[in-house]
Amino acid sequence: MSDESRIDPPVSDQAMLKLTNVESAYGPIKAIRGVSLAVRRGEIATILGSNGAGKTTILKTISGIIDPIKGSVEFKGEPITGMDPARIVTRGLSHVPEGREVFPLLSVMDNLRMGAYTRRDRDGVARDVEAVFAYFPILKERANQEAGLLSGGQQQMLAISRALMAKPDVMLLDEPSLGLSPKLTREIFEIVVRINRERGTTLLVVEQNALMALNVADYGYVLENGRIVMEDTTANLREKEDIKEFYLGMKEQGVRGERRWKKKKNWR
Ligand SMILES: Nc1ncnc2c1ncn2[C@@H]1O[C@H](COP(=O)(O)OP(=O)(O)OP(=O)(O)O)[C@@H](O)[C@H]1O
Ligand SMILES: [Mg+2]
Repeated sequence: MSDESRIDPPVSDQAMLKLTNVESAYGPIKAIRGVSLAVRRGEIATILGSNGAGKTTILKTISGIIDPIKGSVEFKGEPITGMDPARIVTRGLSHVPEGREVFPLLSVMDNLRMGAYTRRDRDGVARDVEAVFAYFPILKERANQEAGLLSGGQQQMLAISRALMAKPDVMLLDEPSLGLSPKLTREIFEIVVRINRERGTTLLVVEQNALMALNVADYGYVLENGRIVMEDTTANLREKEDIKEFYLGMKEQGVRGERRWKKKKNWR
């Protein structure tokens, strides 16, 4: 996506999501420590970090899948720390997990209905089914097919669509480009940006494809070993030497840098 095609996002200063000194662990293993971050209304924020840095753990902590051992999570100005994940969804926060979990034996349409299970406005649900079909026309063609028979990219489209069916104010996306071709990655991100611009959905995106993430997001955090080591607007992050070297190195170093890059990171 070129910079020229971007419109300034309707970002306001109001924090939709705020983490303060959050610490989460798996048994004795502390996965994130003292994480503080904020995502403003209308913004696309991103978290960059190598494998195991704790990106997924942050998203799971926000959506209530993991309860933090310290710190607080606020959503639209209210605490949601330790709240049941289903209640967090009904408050307007949807999580598209890593690995695009769809219900493989249910049809595409039933997967979408599952995403809307908390809603009572049947007309609104029907309208939103049409809206996601407009974003991803292939899903309309496959509406009655089992979701498990879709390709990886199509399953990612369905996972995003299912999250949209809950009519979220904030959507968390965990590695939307995982395992997808560069072309499909671009297509998915174009739609992600449209969702942000057209529906005003605030997004927090975790992505291995740092170039893509830094191009579409407004603000970014860099996570290393469970701690945030840098944060700034993506315009500024793109100019920082460490970011260029560690996260955008593949582009600048070309073939010669390949060995170094492989040692550091498994880019997709
Ligand atoms: N279920 C679990 N049980 C024990 N340790 C875990 C579990 N899930 C994650 N971890 C550990 O917590 C740390 C953070 O993992 P996390 O999945 O959040 O990283 P990530 O940044 O999402 O990595 P990736 O880029 O590979 O998806 C890692 O050290 C990982 O080994
Ligand atoms: Mg992860």
